[in-house]
Amino acid sequence: MKDLSHIELIWPDGKTTIESLGSDWLNAALNANIEIPVGCLKGSCGACEIDVNGRTIRACISKIDIQDGSKINIDFTSDPYW
Ligand code: FES
Repeated sequence: MKDLSHIELIWPDGKTTIESLGSDWLNAALNANIEIPVGCLKGSCGACEIDVNGRTIRACISKIDIQDGSKINIDFTSDPYW
């Protein structure tokens, strides 16, 4: 039977971790020894943006969601203005 409470995360360095749905992204990154840059921690500055299966999210205010897929590929957002 498929475990619907956890999801595999594939980080930019190729490492994989398993996290509970509903966990927050910054803790998930910490568990993977990945540093996501942060600023305001309130969702307004955009410093913590990551791409989750191609969709940009702000990690400080987002939770890991089943809508992101059965496996989640994470990339650092490339912003030509930074
Ligand atoms: S740290 Fe500022 S939006 Fe996330």
